[in-house]
Amino acid sequence: MSSASTGHESLAGRVVVVTGAGKGIGLAIAERFASVGAKVAINDVDESAASSAAAAIEVDGGIAIATPADVSDSSQVAEMFDRVVAEWGTVDVLVNNAAIVSPTLHFFDADEAWWRRIIDVNLTGHFLCGHRASKIMAKQGRGSIINMSSGGATRAHRAFTAYDASKGGIEALTRAMALDLGPYGVRVNALMPGSIDTVGMDPEARALRGENIPAGRIGVPFDMTGPALFLASDDADYVTGDVLRVDGGMLSQQRSATVDIHPPSMFPDIGSIE
Ligand SMILES: NC(=O)c1ccc[n+]([C@@H]2O[C@H](COP(=O)([O-])OP(=O)(O)OC[C@H]3O[C@@H](n4cnc5c(N)ncnc54)[C@H](O)[C@@H]3O)[C@@H](O)[C@H]2O)c1
Repeated sequence: MSSASTGHESLAGRVVVVTGAGKGIGLAIAERFASVGAKVAINDVDESAASSAAAAIEVDGGIAIATPADVSDSSQVAEMFDRVVAEWGTVDVLVNNAAIVSPTLHFFDADEAWWRRIIDVNLTGHFLCGHRASKIMAKQGRGSIINMSSGGATRAHRAFTAYDASKGGIEALTRAMALDLGPYGVRVNALMPGSIDTVGMDPEARALRGENIPAGRIGVPFDMTGPALFLASDDADYVTGDVLRVDGGMLSQQRSATVDIHPPSMFPDIGSIE
């Protein structure tokens, strides 16, 4: 892989941890960091997805290791960062990307286990990884943490209460971490993806959903990669506590393109509520 004319030369040789990088947006971000010469630790709870992603990056000439772990488990998170430091000496960039959304449940159908699991992975996972990474970064006086928000942080999705609450928490966490970590040279920002096709929609569904988006198309994982590299790079040295929307203008309009995924016709019948 060549690091020439990428505009992100400052990232060559930097150590980057991307969580949930076995597929989707995380994988695209990890591949893009590797393409500019960064050393990338591929985290995922799915061990084989993490290993295949790291192997594919190496085949392509990049530098990567697989660091499987469940981001909601503090001991697994600690082991993961210990492993990265043992391998490469430090951590310069953390992309907190791992999250779960399923199952989506109407508020009446939700239960405590559902709420706790989504908050644990999405919000506590961001805290645990950010906590560990920021101490390593503070010791070298430099680092960038990128959290992954969602439009749901500020505009709700139907049947996504736990997910949207986790994402609102992630934006608040981003600002709070930025304040505490600024004096140590650690910047903390969030990306807010719009509607990004990570599931491989058929062309008709893609085109239909894209019509509602000001940019005229649904996003692809690669769309998230330039903004991630920018926030990680020295070009963003004076950017912290911010949320960067990468949504083709979706949140600039009155209505989100995904509002009809869970129409009221799917809500529980009042007679079925216990
Ligand atoms: N795709 C979109 O349209 C969209 C929109 C807004 C926000 N986002 C956010 O972007 C991020 C990536 O989304 P995506 O669509 O690529 O998701 P995805 O489901 O395709 O990939 C998520 C990855 O995270 C991993 N993961 C899940 N739980 C984990 C855990 N406990 N520990 C470690 N890894 C775990 C999964 O195995 C998977 O590989 C998420 O934070 C998501 O909330 C996505």
